[in-house]
Amino acid sequence: MHAQFFGHRAPDAVFGPRWQELVEDGTPEETPDVWWRERREALLRLADDESPRYVYDPEVVTARSDEVQGLGPIDQSFYAVKANPHPEVLRLLERRGLGFECVSPGELDRVFEACPGLDPARVLFQPNFAAPAEYADAFERGVHVTVDNVQPLAEHPDVFAGEELFVRVDPGQGEGHHRKVRTAGAQSKFGVVPDDLGRLRAAVDQAGATVVGLHAHVGSGITDESTWAGLVDLLASLAAEFPAVRALNVGGGLGVPNASGGRPLDLDALDAALGKAAARHPQYDLWMEPGRYLVAEAGVLLARVTQTKTKDAAAYVGLDTGMNSLLRPALYGAHHEIVNLSRLDEPPAMTADVVGPVCETGDVLGHDRRLPPTEPGDTLLVATTGAYGASMSNRYNLREPASEVMLAPEPA
Ligand code: LLP
Repeated sequence: MHAQFFGHRAPDAVFGPRWQELVEDGTPEETPDVWWRERREALLRLADDESPRYVYDPEVVTARSDEVQGLGPIDQSFYAVKANPHPEVLRLLERRGLGFECVSPGELDRVFEACPGLDPARVLFQPNFAAPAEYADAFERGVHVTVDNVQPLAEHPDVFAGEELFVRVDPGQGEGHHRKVRTAGAQSKFGVVPDDLGRLRAAVDQAGATVVGLHAHVGSGITDESTWAGLVDLLASLAAEFPAVRALNVGGGLGVPNASGGRPLDLDALDAALGKAAARHPQYDLWMEPGRYLVAEAGVLLARVTQTKTKDAAAYVGLDTGMNSLLRPALYGAHHEIVNLSRLDEPPAMTADVVGPVCETGDVLGHDRRLPPTEPGDTLLVATTGAYGASMSNRYNLREPASEVMLAPEPA
């Protein structure tokens, strides 16, 4: 199964009726039919072999990439590699026709190693506060380069001489699931504000470079479908000052729901809004660069229970990994559904904080979680961790983060 998808929506059989389970007051309940319930036995075997472990389902990535590639008004989508640079994820997305958005030389290396022979025209390099040598290296590789500051152009015109550039604009207002992921507006270090574009154009001319595209990325975890059409309009209005501009890149940030509720992004509505914007500005190619949307739901983190504990009124379930593998709860207060995979069908019998072994009070993967009677040796699953999970993991306390494995496709 899992193979056929129609329009922009995958059938519930693959992803589960994620939204019907929200009870009336918006409290999340269990999601019965997600892929990891179907693959429970395989996941438990993988966790027995090694824990902690991230596991990715390629069929979910495939389904999501078909949705993104189905956005008619978008001429090219680039996968934001930072969400999950696992080589098999990159190879899968390359086969589905996506390009890649990279923000460091390391990400460029990873993409070209994973996908030898990849056309550099399918790759963007969009660093922030990068050293001049990084731009020079990117031009050498032949990838598209985006600048978001006047200074490198003014101080190192030789690096940019004769080159084609994209310019990242700050539209003035960020969006996203947490203030730390809003990448526009006064509090954000990214982009060039419209008022500074005159100065930038002078520096570009002085360097002998050409602006061929404008870019904006306003944040991550956005579920307002009008956002990107608004960016098309804004960038198109600014492009009037840059006659060589042929592409407008409206960034990523497409939100993914999780068990904490919220509204899923409606890709049909996004398609319609983008279609109208494209019709208003037919002279430009439209690009997008989603990360999370393509991989978040494809990943789970499996971890073993090491100890349980009660202390005064509090109960804790301790795992063999925590914020060293998954930083999002500690950094953003992000909610990830957590289930006891070993006892998936047993009813909840306890409420506990699910914690890791790291020496920080903030090392909590989930507060006040309802779990069946949970014991050392059980395998817990942390859902929707395919994006910004492994890629943000770290070795704090010198504890190795979870390894990663991609499932083989399910036999038909
Ligand atoms: N393009 C640019 C220029 C970006 O900076 C990002 C993400 C993306 C595209 C992809 O955004 P996405 O479609 O994945 O939302 N660590 C945070 C997310 C930070 C995203 C940073 N930039 C999290 O775990 O929520």
